[in-house]
Parts: sequence; C-alpha cells; structure tokens
Amino acid sequence: MRTHVGIIGAGPAGLVLAHLLQRAGIESVVLESQTRPYIEERVRAGVLEQGTVDLLNELGLGERMMRQGLMHYGVELRFGGRGHRIDFADLTGGKGVMIYAQHEVIKDLVAARLAAGGEILFEAKDVSVGGFEGERPVIRFTQNGEPMELHCDFIAGCDGFHGVCRGAIPDGVLKAYEREYPFGWLGILAEAPPASHELIYANHERGFALMSMRSPKISRLYLQCEPDEDLNKWPDARIWEEMQKRFATMDGFSLTEGPVIQKGVTGMRSFVVEPMQFGRLFLAGDSAHIVPPTGAKGLNLAVADVRVLASGLKEFYASGKRDLLNKYSEICLRRVWKVQRFSWWMTSLLHKFGADSAFDRRRQLAELDYVTSSRAAMTTLAENYVGLPLE
Ligand code: FAD
Ligand code: DHB
Repeated sequence: MRTHVGIIGAGPAGLVLAHLLQRAGIESVVLESQTRPYIEERVRAGVLEQGTVDLLNELGLGERMMRQGLMHYGVELRFGGRGHRIDFADLTGGKGVMIYAQHEVIKDLVAARLAAGGEILFEAKDVSVGGFEGERPVIRFTQNGEPMELHCDFIAGCDGFHGVCRGAIPDGVLKAYEREYPFGWLGILAEAPPASHELIYANHERGFALMSMRSPKISRLYLQCEPDEDLNKWPDARIWEEMQKRFATMDGFSLTEGPVIQKGVTGMRSFVVEPMQFGRLFLAGDSAHIVPPTGAKGLNLAVADVRVLASGLKEFYASGKRDLLNKYSEICLRRVWKVQRFSWWMTSLLHKFGADSAFDRRRQLAELDYVTSSRAAMTTLAENYVGLPLE
C-alpha cells in the first residue's frame, strides 16, 4: 500500500489531520489499533475551545455539534462556600467554549471521513515505523493476522501517550520534561440534570471537584482522589455524598443526584518532548505532550498541533519546500508550553496538595480571591480557557 501521509491513531489529532489533508488534496491513511465502536464510546474530555469549534465548522464537520453541543460563555469558580462567575464573553470579546463529548467528535470525524471515501484501518495490530530518517518511511502492521506495509512520504505519530511513534525516535534525540501530581480524578457520568447551566470548578478543604455536563439530562462530575484510587471503595452513594460536601455553598446549593452510568480514574501529569519531529516522522497531540485536565486543553492542543502540521505538508506538496515542516516543533512548542503553564496553574489553583503548609493554603485562597476580583486576572483566565489565538 502507498499513500502520501501515514497517520497512526484515530484520536482527535489523527482524524482532524486526515480531514485537513483531504481539504488540501493530500492523501492519507489512518491506522487505529482499536475497533470503531471502542473509539466511538471511549469517555474522555468534553470542552472544545472556540478555535476548535470554528475549525470543525470550517471543515463541514460541525453540524451535529452545533445542534447537540452546549455553548458556554462563562464558568464558575467556587471556594469558601461562594461561587464567582468568570464571564468569558465579556472578557474576550464574545468568545466561549462548546461542551460536546470527545467521543461524539470522534463519531462525526470517522463518519465524514468514511463517507468521503477516506481510509481508516481499524484493529491494525503490531504497528511499527521505520525509514523516516531517510526519504522512504514505512509503517508495518498486521490486520486479521496478515502482515501489511504502508509506504508513505511522511508519518504522523498521532498515537497518544502510550503509542509507538515517540519511542521509535532514536535515543538521545528527544528531551522529556515531566511533572507528576500527587492526585488523580475520579470521573462519573450520571443520569442527572446538571445543577447549574455552566461548569463549576470547586476548591474545597476536602479536595477539588468539577461539575460539567453532556446534555441537559446528563452530568459529568469529577472528584480529586488518590492517583491509584480503588474504584471499589466508591459505591455511588459515597461519590454523591462527597460531591455534595465539596460543592456546598452558604446558600444551600445541592447537586441533583441520579444513576451513575460510567466511572473511571484518570492520573494527572504534565509531559512534553522536544523536538516533536525527527526526519519524516512528526508527533502530534498526546504522543508529544500531556496536560493535567484542569484547563480542559488536551484535545484542543492536539487539534492545534495538526493544524500546523497540515500547513507544513500543504506547503511541501504545493512547492516542494520544507520551511514550515522544519519549523513544526518550534511553532507547536510555543503554544504547547503556554498551555502547559495554564494547565499547571489551574491545577495548582484548585487542588489540595497533601504537603501544603498553612502558608500555601492561605496563598491559594488569596490567589482565588484575586482571580475572581481583578478584571486583569479574570481576563488572563478567560483568554486562556477559550483558547489562545492560533499562529
Ligand atoms: P488519543 O485520543 O489518545 O488518540 C490516539 C489514538 O491512537 C487512540 O485511538 C489509540 O487507540 C491509537 N493508538 C495508540 N497506539 C497505537 C498503535 N500502536 N497503533 C495504532 N493506533 C494506536 N482531556 C481533557 O481536557 N479533559 C478530560 O477530562 C480528559 N479526560 C481524559 C481521560 C482519559 C482516560 C484520557 C486517556 C485522556 C483524557 N483527556 C482529557 C485528554 C484528551 O482526551 C487527550 O488529550 C486527547 O484524546 C488527545 O488526542 P490524541 O489524538 O493526541 O490522542
Ligand atoms: C470536562 C473535562 C475537563 O478536564 C475540564 O477541565 C472541564 C470539563 C468535561 O469532561 O466535561
């Protein structure tokens, strides 16, 4: 088999890239190790930046999102028993975010790609990459037990944090920067109407909590927990009891409870490799970087990377020039580090750190007070949350 760009991974990075390339008349094949139902049901993020929303619409992929997604123009920060709204529209000149589940985005991207005759090879196993140091990259894999080869001009490593592409780059090329956090998030989906129209990020003595949603009938909630929290210790009643405590306000706020339909624990880390490219292999999205979820940035950053990559590939196929491709890492990393900074900052602002001294706790409360009372500070939060401008 032969194509222009071999894309490994049918996550947001890989699928958006395939669509961007299609628009530019560049062929690609996507290889995905999982089945189609698996990637279409995998519960993950839910917040799309304004720029991600605009891009999906521009690509003609936003029809269902615009119908079923919930556009939000603010969030609430809750601490000391009180809520404080950050008004994105007012602070950013009308921008907002779309609440629309990542797996719904995946469904839309897969359906549109297949409808346009694009190739996505599901259940591609034993994937390995080679030849990218020179001019003849090749992806080897098996499908239904048959060994296969995909020859291409470029490989896009969109295979997430646990994929094979980052590890295929020779030792000594990449430098990794990393931070682990001493907590995780216990996330649930519940058949319960969200108790507020907008997201609530709560800083509480007992730990962080987040109320989000998927529809007017389904809530998505998260609780700060141990990084290796045992879900068996969390029957539904205990989860609701803990949530109620962390969201409680002076004026008697209470969450609407309902059956829990999904539960999971996510670890938290910040991670970046530099550079994000080697020869004809380009890393994009989680394969190159991970952010803690507090800023809701993972998916959006993956999309921002592949926009840069698609521009570089477009330039190459139009003119043979590699100027933009050569600068891929440099351009992406400027955004990556700003988003890392923001995600780290939101995480530090809102979580309980086990080793916190009384001084650190006072400092955190002062920062929350500042961020919810200074227009300059609120603007900083708002412009990062709705998404920094794309280069
Ligand atoms: P992925 O979505 O991980 O896609 C990579 C794809 O590659 C996958 O489909 C995978 O199956 C495939 N793949 C992997 N290895 C191979 C291989 N060897 N061969 C072929 N295919 C391969 N972000 C938030 O902002 N908020 C959240 O609440 C949030 N929750 C998350 C919960 C979980 C459990 C996880 C894992 C991530 C979460 N994220 C969250 C982060 C966000 O979902 C990711 O940043 C986003 O999915 C990145 O997109 P991607 O395309 O780079 O990678
Ligand atoms: C959601 C996830 C996040 O990480 C976040 O910061 C906000 C919302 C969500 O899943 O809805």
